[in-house]
Amino acid sequence: MSASTAGAAMHLTLHVWRQKGPKDAGRMVQYPARDISPDMSFLEMLDTVNERLVESGDEPIAFDHDCREGICGSCGLMINGSAHGPMKLTTACQLHMRSFKDGDSIWIEPWRAKAFPVIKDLVVDRGAFDRIIQAGGFISAPTGTPQDANGLPIAKADADLAMDNAACIGCGACVAACPNASASLFTAAKISHLGALPQGQPERKRRAKAMVERMDLEGFGGCTLFGECQEACPKGISLDAIMQMNRDYVLASATAVEEKVHADSA
Ligand code: SF4
Ligand code: FES
Repeated sequence: MSASTAGAAMHLTLHVWRQKGPKDAGRMVQYPARDISPDMSFLEMLDTVNERLVESGDEPIAFDHDCREGICGSCGLMINGSAHGPMKLTTACQLHMRSFKDGDSIWIEPWRAKAFPVIKDLVVDRGAFDRIIQAGGFISAPTGTPQDANGLPIAKADADLAMDNAACIGCGACVAACPNASASLFTAAKISHLGALPQGQPERKRRAKAMVERMDLEGFGGCTLFGECQEACPKGISLDAIMQMNRDYVLASATAVEEKVHADSA
């Protein structure tokens, strides 16, 4: 897709998923998006279309957004079949219209996954991610004061790994891009982030087991390592996180079996 000519207004045709509510069947609806500046963000383009819909008495297109800076993870949109659109390592809110060209048709849909039911139009319920975090994506062991944290040496490689995985913004693009609708990359990023730090060690096994089991309970698909998640992730989370999650989960499950055998024979 070639970039638009700098400064020249673009005339586009949008095909947008409209769905009144969770029980509505939903359908694609066509809208003109005329006089769009290449310097607008994708969400500003949707704002412009919405202003025109409101002016003409139509209902605006519902879509999620908050920070518009690529940090909150709210702006989940499937754009021309790609999660967050055509630019690598870019959230929908950081995507600019210069990535499209005058006359383009753009297809905009919500994330498609059983565990992310559509609330309205392009807005899906990502509460399943919150429940995975609630299952164990935290450290409850006493970690001391800020001075204690500063006084605890952490190997550079471990600190880098933790920071890389902490970059996950919980957007859900990995689920939307996965043919199995698996949440493994998200869950693995959270598990691997905390598991790389000394403060995360006391709960490491319990955390991995509880979060993976919650992920399965929420109705996400199984991971078969297609790698589409890694390609779609706007924060560059690596499949390596999934390998680490699987190792932690197997170890945690084996420990749980061993503890049960000991308890039964006591
Ligand atoms: Fe989004 Fe990447 Fe986190 Fe998945 S792993 S939720 S794609 S930031
Ligand atoms: Fe916050 Fe896009 S609106 S990441």
